Amino acid sequence: MKTAIVYYSMCGNTAFVAEKIKEALTDVDLIEITPVKSYPSKGIRKFLWGGKSAMMAEKPALNPYKFNADDYEHIVIGFPVWASRVAPPIRSFIEENRVVLQTKSISAYACQAGNGAEKALKNLKEIIPVSDFSASMILIDPKDKPTEDNERKIREFCKKL
Ligand SMILES: Cc1cc2nc3c(=O)[nH]c(=O)nc-3n(C[C@H](O)[C@H](O)[C@H](O)COP(=O)(O)O)c2cc1C
Repeated sequence: MKTAIVYYSMCGNTAFVAEKIKEALTDVDLIEITPVKSYPSKGIRKFLWGGKSAMMAEKPALNPYKFNADDYEHIVIGFPVWASRVAPPIRSFIEENRVVLQTKSISAYACQAGNGAEKALKNLKEIIPVSDFSASMILIDPKDKPTEDNERKIREFCKKL
């Protein structure tokens, strides 16, 4: 059975990791989630709008995506940390697929600039809900600041999938 990597990425870091996982495994589909109304991705508006949306636990409308849950045994959810929370488009995806997600093995990774990812991963567990992830990892801006530590974490994560 295949693995689906479902991710949202505003600035490319989360997408970068999704590609890395795909390269390391076989039978992986990447499913990028995008909101109908894009968040500002530059300047202070980027943090104000996205941060407020995350704090208010918004579930923005998503553009259509192809996700046939029956095709997948394992689902990896990737997201950037916003205000120590899950980025809102992932919240929308979970809302739309909650029942089926509860029947799957779920792993998750969070990309952040500094801190808050532990809280965000805990938050993700509660909103699915799932008792635990099969695998999880936290990365610091993996595309913008490549490090051997990030590479090692990705390798270890892939071994658990
Ligand atoms: C609205 C917003 C809020 C953010 N909040 C946090 C945060 O609470 N903690 C943190 O470490 N990084 C925070 N960041 C930084 C991103 O989580 C980080 O740069 C991440 O790697 C970006 O992933 P992406 O390139 O896939 O969008 C925030 C970024 C944005 C746009």
